[in-house]
Amino acid sequence: MPSVKKQAPRLFVLTGAGISAESGIATFRASDGLWEQHRIEDVASPEGFKRDPELVQRFYNMRRAGIQDPKIAPNDAHRALVELERRWPGEFLLVTQNVDNLHERAGSRKLLHMHGELLKVRCQSSDQVYVWNGEITSATKCECCQVTGTLRPHIVWFGEMPMHMDEIFEFLDACDLFISVGTSGVVYLAAGFVAHAKGRGRARSIEVNLEPTPLTTMFDEQLAGPATKTLPGLVTRLLAEYGPRKN
Ligand code: OAD
Repeated sequence: MPSVKKQAPRLFVLTGAGISAESGIATFRASDGLWEQHRIEDVASPEGFKRDPELVQRFYNMRRAGIQDPKIAPNDAHRALVELERRWPGEFLLVTQNVDNLHERAGSRKLLHMHGELLKVRCQSSDQVYVWNGEITSATKCECCQVTGTLRPHIVWFGEMPMHMDEIFEFLDACDLFISVGTSGVVYLAAGFVAHAKGRGRARSIEVNLEPTPLTTMFDEQLAGPATKTLPGLVTRLLAEYGPRKN
């Protein structure tokens, strides 16, 4: 196992749909998941959007409304990562593939959404991004252009480049500890992060998931089980091991 660097260690945390599953948001690849009920090429590709924009808008309108349901709230795994960020003795970055807002609602600060955000939309003409809580329909006008048909969900679709990649790889290059939580490890670029962290920075790596993934053998340690049960204990252990921030 790689040696533990105790001085101002750099921690990179990657999360996926599994961390929000216990908050009631469906994952993508479970048997009742989103991709069982919808074809990716219809609702999550630029070509699908060109073919049938109303279908795509309806899909994201539904998901946007879904995460604003009063029953949906951050869980103990989101909160454990807030505790980790607050007390971590070195630099910290949380990168999520999730498009919900549960990390920020829990209190996470250093957070990047690499696949976009459900509660934002983007004008395809100006690239301006707007906070958006409601629906987009064929009658919705963009605030900047004042015409219909230019707004799209601020979501990364298949075939598009994830967001913030320069910042993400710069941090990964020099991270000491890499933790992955609730992601199936089949969607690149995120699926390549553990190899990158180990190859460039020789980081120690821990995977937290309900079950083994195609990437499990790349990790130094795997914690099996629901994230709300495994992550709080891991956070306590890591803070004891690396030493919490003094302030
Ligand atoms: P997936 O649905 O592919 O995988 C969810 C993972 O979470 C699985 O490995 C589950 O075993 C695990 N899991 C489920 N419940 C859990 C729990 N309570 N505790 C811990 N782990 C749990 O979701 P992602 O890996 O996030 O991209 O998917 C990656 C990307 O594929 C998404 O961001 C999305 C999707 O297509 C885009 O839309 C661009």
